[in-house]
Amino acid sequence: MSAPGTELLSVSGLEVTFRTDAGELRAVDGLSFDLRRGEILGIVGESGSGKSVASLSILGLTRGPDTVISGRAEFDGRDLIALGEEELRELRGNRISMIFQDPLSSLHPFYTIGRQLIEAIQVHRSARKADAAARAVELLEMVGIPDARRRLDEYPHEFSGGMRQRAMIAMALANEPDILIADEPTTALDVTTQAQILGLIKDLREQLGMAVIMITHDLGVVAEVADRVLVMYAGRAVESAPVDALFYDPQHPYTWGLLGSVTRMDRPRAAKLAQIKGQPPSPLALPAGCKFRPRCPHAFDRCAVEPPLEPRSGDSAHADRCWLGPDEKRAKRVVEGGEIGLEAA
Ligand SMILES: Nc1ncnc2c1ncn2[C@@H]1O[C@H](COP(=O)(O)OP(=O)(O)OP(=O)(O)O)[C@@H](O)[C@H]1O
Ligand SMILES: [Mg+2]
Repeated sequence: MSAPGTELLSVSGLEVTFRTDAGELRAVDGLSFDLRRGEILGIVGESGSGKSVASLSILGLTRGPDTVISGRAEFDGRDLIALGEEELRELRGNRISMIFQDPLSSLHPFYTIGRQLIEAIQVHRSARKADAAARAVELLEMVGIPDARRRLDEYPHEFSGGMRQRAMIAMALANEPDILIADEPTTALDVTTQAQILGLIKDLREQLGMAVIMITHDLGVVAEVADRVLVMYAGRAVESAPVDALFYDPQHPYTWGLLGSVTRMDRPRAAKLAQIKGQPPSPLALPAGCKFRPRCPHAFDRCAVEPPLEPRSGDSAHADRCWLGPDEKRAKRVVEGGEIGLEAA
């Protein structure tokens, strides 16, 4: 067991390539990050940036004849990428749990919530059924499901969207994991329920001391829960920073674009900030050099070579992949009404 604040998971040079009919698809390309005990790491990026594939691959869930995975993911002295299927199965749902992006894939429609929770407990613990059932009630109560004992006998379709999400969190927490990976856990929910679920995840982190990887396309979610943020673009990290630094001193033009499209509830937008123009590149045909170059209004000669992810702003905890100097970055990012964007509309 490592002490609080030390690295719990250390991912380095992760590459995931799928062989498809259309060619080799590099979904994750040289991704490196650390997760510390008790920390909430937000992973943010547009659709297709490799957020889900990266986390699924760490858990061995993308393995197959047409997948090539390399790199390392060190957890508790072992490299998860090299680990055998048996050992991985022992870790999954136990020391590392995942809430999947597609909620229907995690809850079986034909079994009661109680039965599914009890099974999640018994897969990894030799608990008597009565003890597992008591634990299931405790878990539902912990995630704020009222009248938990009765609801154990209900089926997933009898739960509202928010309650189903809570049930999935309960299932993921059944064995008090060291790491919870939550892939878009609130996307399908209304704003109020979303806020409750995010609050719940933060509380549980406090209570259980677990680390969380929160995957989202929504910087609002990141601002709400994360301690640190990784911005992904085209399968790699383009910026990595403590959450405050990301919002107040963002370094990568892609991040500026994401910030410009955040919906702010607390005040009307003074002027419409430009959205990022164009589409993310196809992972089947990535541009040479900086992958954001074709969409970046600030690109220059040097961008023909891809910059490494390294500290450039003077803060050693804040790294990015953009060749612009820190002063140029501060001058070029557009600030309107206190909001940062990529360029003026
Ligand atoms: N099993 C697979 N076979 C081939 N390509 C895949 C497979 N799974 C994902 N991909 C591709 O890998 C890329 C990254 O996908 P991924 O699901 O990780 O994106 P994401 O960042 O999670 O996006 P979203 O926000 O939409 O969930 C995409 O181009 C996707 O089409
Ligand atoms: Mg995804």
